[in-house]
Amino acid sequence: MDFRLDGRRALITGSTRGLGLAIARAMAEQGAQVIINSRNADDCQATAEALARQGHAVQALPFDASDGPDREAALAGIRDNIDILVNNAGINHRVPLADFDEGAWRNVLDVNLTAPFLLAQLVAPGMVKRGWGRIINIASIMAQVGRATIPAYVSSKHGLVGLTKTLAIELGPHGVTVNAINPGYFATEFNTPLMADPDFDAMVKAHTPVGRWGDPAELAGAAVFLASEAGSYVNGAALTVDGGMTATL
Ligand SMILES: NC(=O)c1ccc[n+]([C@@H]2O[C@H](COP(=O)([O-])OP(=O)(O)OC[C@H]3O[C@@H](n4cnc5c(N)ncnc54)[C@H](OP(=O)(O)O)[C@@H]3O)[C@@H](O)[C@H]2O)c1
Repeated sequence: MDFRLDGRRALITGSTRGLGLAIARAMAEQGAQVIINSRNADDCQATAEALARQGHAVQALPFDASDGPDREAALAGIRDNIDILVNNAGINHRVPLADFDEGAWRNVLDVNLTAPFLLAQLVAPGMVKRGWGRIINIASIMAQVGRATIPAYVSSKHGLVGLTKTLAIELGPHGVTVNAINPGYFATEFNTPLMADPDFDAMVKAHTPVGRWGDPAELAGAAVFLASEAGSYVNGAALTVDGGMTATL
């Protein structure tokens, strides 16, 4: 059973903090060369330097995943040499339907759904040429259920699991697997306002059988598994990592 990632080059979008950083660290610990990304060049550099100080092979690659020219310029020299793509960068917009403007809807869809599609399109040809690749889309339990006031987020994550399935079918014959991970509620900056809300915090703890928010490190094992040889027959799946929340009524 081989969970190592030696010799693999992994691009993890949105990896300066939160779940992306936990995934990047775990993949580096398994021997991968990791590429750290976000929109903030200083954060990318600082994160890459911190991982390099721990002895990991790491590169900083700042770009906005939802900005076509920025994305394509950043990937121009390396797009054919990415073995593992983790589409992790994601945003949310939380307001009642009446106040949800079209620009906000498009922005969430651009980052959470269109960017993963276009990034996969950029790196897949190199994977197909080498006959090996992994694309891992970080969706959400909001790809399985819904919640009021976040229609763009819920729609984008449902769409991301659909994208995962269709790419898995098209790329599987070429040695490239495509899977999603559906995280539940994890303690990251993304959720700071929700964790600070006593009612929401209590709701998460009450509805999660393990009784707490997830630690980002607890998501990383799923990503390493899907990226490794141990996960080679998993394709087109959405792996839920939620402490049991979606198993309950
Ligand atoms: N935390 C949870 O409980 C949870 C649950 C389910 C699903 N998820 C999903 O997991 C993913 C990561 O969530 P998180 O909680 O770790 O979020 P986070 O703490 O807010 O971190 C998001 C990361 O993405 C980067 N980013 C945002 N927009 C970007 C863009 N357009 N291009 C490139 N990088 C961008 C951020 O850096 P900059 O802002 O500096 O660019 C940051 O590095 C998201 O897709 C989210 O939907 C999270």
